[in-house]
Amino acid sequence: MRYGFFDTDADEYVIDRPDVPVSWTNYLGTKNMCTVLSHHGGGYSYYKSSQYGRISRFRQNGVPLDRPGHYVYLRDDADGDYWSASWQPVGKPFVEPGTEPDAEAGPGAAGRWTTRHGMGYTRFRSEYRGIDTEQTVFIPLDDDVELWDVRVTNTSDRVRELTVASYVEFSFHTITIDNQNLQMSLYASGSSYQDGIIEYDFYYEPWTFHYVASSETPSSYDSLRDNFIGAYRTETNPVAIERGEGTSKSATTQNHCGSLQHKIVLQPGETKRLVYLLGYGSRDAAGRAMQAKYSDVESAEVPAVDREFQRLRDYWHAKQDKLRIRTPHEGMNTMINSWTLLQAETCVVWSRFASFVEVGGRNGLGYRDTAQDVMSVIHSNPTKTRQRILELLRAQTEQGYELHLFDPKAFDPDAEKLPDVPSPTIVPTPNVADLIHGLEDTCSDDHLWLVPSVVEYVKETGDLAFLDLEVPFAQGTPATVYEHLRRALEFSAEQVGPNGVALGLRADWNDCLNLGGGETALVTFLHAWAIRAFLEVAEPLGRTDDVERWTAELDRIRGVADSELWDGRWWIRGYTRDGVKIGSAANDEGKIFLEHQAWPVIAGITSQERGEASMDSVRELLGSEYGNHLNWPAFTKVDDTVGFVTRVYPGIKENAAIFSHPNAWPIIAEALLGRGDEAVQFYDAILPYHQNDNIEVRGAEPYAYVQFLYGRDHEWFGKAQNPWLTGTAGWMYTAVTKYVLGVRLALDGLVVDPSIPQDWDGFEVRREWRDAVYEIEVRNPEHVSHGVASVTVDGVAHEPGTPVPPAPAGSTVSVVVTLG
Ligand code: GLC
Repeated sequence: MRYGFFDTDADEYVIDRPDVPVSWTNYLGTKNMCTVLSHHGGGYSYYKSSQYGRISRFRQNGVPLDRPGHYVYLRDDADGDYWSASWQPVGKPFVEPGTEPDAEAGPGAAGRWTTRHGMGYTRFRSEYRGIDTEQTVFIPLDDDVELWDVRVTNTSDRVRELTVASYVEFSFHTITIDNQNLQMSLYASGSSYQDGIIEYDFYYEPWTFHYVASSETPSSYDSLRDNFIGAYRTETNPVAIERGEGTSKSATTQNHCGSLQHKIVLQPGETKRLVYLLGYGSRDAAGRAMQAKYSDVESAEVPAVDREFQRLRDYWHAKQDKLRIRTPHEGMNTMINSWTLLQAETCVVWSRFASFVEVGGRNGLGYRDTAQDVMSVIHSNPTKTRQRILELLRAQTEQGYELHLFDPKAFDPDAEKLPDVPSPTIVPTPNVADLIHGLEDTCSDDHLWLVPSVVEYVKETGDLAFLDLEVPFAQGTPATVYEHLRRALEFSAEQVGPNGVALGLRADWNDCLNLGGGETALVTFLHAWAIRAFLEVAEPLGRTDDVERWTAELDRIRGVADSELWDGRWWIRGYTRDGVKIGSAANDEGKIFLEHQAWPVIAGITSQERGEASMDSVRELLGSEYGNHLNWPAFTKVDDTVGFVTRVYPGIKENAAIFSHPNAWPIIAEALLGRGDEAVQFYDAILPYHQNDNIEVRGAEPYAYVQFLYGRDHEWFGKAQNPWLTGTAGWMYTAVTKYVLGVRLALDGLVVDPSIPQDWDGFEVRREWRDAVYEIEVRNPEHVSHGVASVTVDGVAHEPGTPVPPAPAGSTVSVVVTLG
């Protein structure tokens, strides 16, 4: 079953059948304000923190789906019939895709609803009884306001008198207080109306306000939710819309909303444009200025709303232009050039806590997730990457390990301080020393992800001096970035168990494998990978002692991997604290795990033969038409020496689901092994794009990766869960661009070393790097997967295998690579 399609030229996904079984969401906002918005208008906004800065309310796990939202209602004042621009919440009958609605039909007729999710915006369109309405929702780059650009067109041949109304339900700004402490939230906030602006205030905290305004003075309004909706009603049939008029009353206390209601008259063919604003800040400090800026829709030559929309489009185009691919694989092109980049950026900018499944009740950053996510967007978002890397460095302890979940503000000397007033609704500032956890809460992998991310950042920017920058450890001790990286490696060198393999500690990448004093092969492999990255900078910096020290450690790890961790056809996962092997053919359950199989290849510590054998085992034992399972067979017997994974239902999450994130790593391994067909087969199996017409199985949106898909042990095999907030996007982006297409960076140049399907004739990549443009064309006349026969740079022969040196800023370089 199909609910929509990719409009690749527009970078949009178009939903042309609105009754999608689950919400298909988009993320708006690039700076301070974020909105998670579904294809039918449900969703919520927050300012900076999804835990403490809620603007609009969302009822998680509610029925009907995704309420409330950011809604525009329309009402035909001739007969009182009403509908919504975004199909829900009124939810009128709709025509099948490809069918025209009847413009002359009477109340309750079928209309047509289309949603376009784009990069940073969502556009709803309704065509109902001769009224064509568009509601484009976006957050401008530099204003803390969400705009709804609404155009209502009369496509019928009679004069129409309509009411157009906004509706959004305000939330108490701290999600826990909003959900639990009603004796605070209900009595500590109020609303007022003046000069066309509804202001929502927090009386105990006179620096926090939200507002709703519009480009024209409304004829009535509602700022008390229960006045707008009415008792025993829902957003589907609000009494104010049914009546065609708001109560125009506001008050202190209770539940609040932003509904501004406009009466309009449209001649046949006439269009009326209205802009609604949902903003952060008070009426006086922000609302009036924003209202003035965005009210010029009729008079200005280029209204501010159009100018800002174009700036947003340009912002995303500039990111896309940093790296564009053109391959024979349409799905790869569409996903890499727009959706996977967008998803990877979303995880870096908004962290991994706000969706419709994780509804934002957490604050700050997950260490390992952020340390991985930043790696894939350095080229498209160097500023945010640098900020995140600094935040991560400040949350590293002087012992080398990291704080697993942390709030960067707690360690940032320049963090904004809230006024110190005795309000019971303010979350107390924690004592930094209390935030530094001990070894019992430490994960064995968190710190290792950071090392290659910093090295990639240096390669992208050429800023070797970044390694000399002083950034304090969490305890406050000063250290250079280089020293931070060295300590991370030292920590892992110290935390080694009796078999010479890394200690498991609280968990590693797999949150549910809690090996404690047991040992983890994954972390040993990651350690090798991080050491290699470190050596890439230690060598040119002339740190000979470090080079010797870490080359020796790498050799030690290679030896341990060889002698302890190879199981015959794949790598074991480790040992329990009782010394029992896990992830071995000798086990009854969990004989093979996915997440560590690729790393010996990626870290360069194993042979081609073992690399291929492990990938073949992954394909054979973990593979499926929807991607690779995380382990096999699923655990059914509780064993706490293995971990929480043995208490998880078989076929979901970490217990034998198709966990998306580690599906990217075998793609990299296969590419490094030179097996391009196998690499792209792995990529294709889990590619959401391929599931566009299989939504009855998949459920989730086909343009975003999800955390996991139900595995074959579950009756819902293939069903996709937890969209958007997953490291999969970043890693898939890296796997395709740097390893399948093979365009990656050395410290001193650009490397092109593809591993592609043999039937490809070639492909093109446009890459911006350090202010120069590289137009890369790869030709594959011999139909091989891997192996560079010749290279030319601006028409001049270049030695294959040597990096193409950085070109002067402003230049365009043509690189032609012939495989063979
Ligand atoms: C979740 C966590 C991530 C972890 C993964 C596997 O996605 O956010 O940190 O690596 O689960 O357990």
